[in-house]
Amino acid sequence: MALDRVRLESIGKAIPGARQAWHALARFRQVHWWKRWVEKQPAEVVKSNSRKAFDYFFDQDEFIETDYLCQARLNLLAYVAEYCSSVATRIDGEANPLRVIDVGCGTGHLLLELGNRLQKPLLLYGLDFSDSAVRRSRRLVPSAEFVVTSVYEIPYPDDNFDIVTCTETLEHLQRPEEALEEMFRVLKPGGQLVVTVPDGTKDDSDGHANFWSAAGLRRLLLPYGVQRVVPVQPDGDLLAHATKPSGHPRLRSDSDLP
Ligand SMILES: C[S@@+](CC[C@H](N)C(=O)[O-])C[C@H]1O[C@@H](n2cnc3c(N)ncnc32)[C@H](O)[C@@H]1O
Repeated sequence: MALDRVRLESIGKAIPGARQAWHALARFRQVHWWKRWVEKQPAEVVKSNSRKAFDYFFDQDEFIETDYLCQARLNLLAYVAEYCSSVATRIDGEANPLRVIDVGCGTGHLLLELGNRLQKPLLLYGLDFSDSAVRRSRRLVPSAEFVVTSVYEIPYPDDNFDIVTCTETLEHLQRPEEALEEMFRVLKPGGQLVVTVPDGTKDDSDGHANFWSAAGLRRLLLPYGVQRVVPVQPDGDLLAHATKPSGHPRLRSDSDLP
């Protein structure tokens, strides 16, 4: 860039109007930053895992409706919702209505399935850092409450949800342990955490920052009361289920007590 500027100054002296043309071009590139992506496939763009990239991704209606929301993804989300419906029976009957949050909610299809399958009165919440994802989710599940924010700063108090779900998101994160810590914080004691990721022994996606085997995922979730890690057939995903113990681990040491 610095070199370009030096060259431009000498060219600017030689060719009238070159400087103005350069500034106009720079302004155009700044204002229309997303145009750099139009030639790319949305699946390519999203590999950077940035908020802007996911925003662009979830704005591509045709791609989302056809490629992204493929039968395999819808089946996985239906499976997760069914799984949640079975673990919901473990939750104290007094938890009425059940408070459920989907972290990294994307298009909102898991929330839709949860609403259809959980047999209890529900309060559904969705969180995603992509504005366009949340816009989609809101349209699909208008009864749910949504928040556009980072998974690292969940804007709810401690011990607030009966179920926290997070599907196909942890593998995109630079700091998955920090994200899990936040999800665990907002989970009530005795609450259920249900997570899916691609099986890292089979996954070779460039856009993923993390690749866990079943054993690796179990290790990651050990501090969070992991109960089981199971393959989801036939897609090569792993589902992990954890229960928050009644005594929060962060309060185990006496020095942490008030
Ligand atoms: C691959 S999509 C999965 C969406 C949905 N859970 C599903 O299974 O279809 C990953 C989602 O995580 C969101 N996401 C990624 N990084 C995030 C972050 N740091 N904070 C909040 N959301 C994030 C993206 O916007 C996207 O909606």
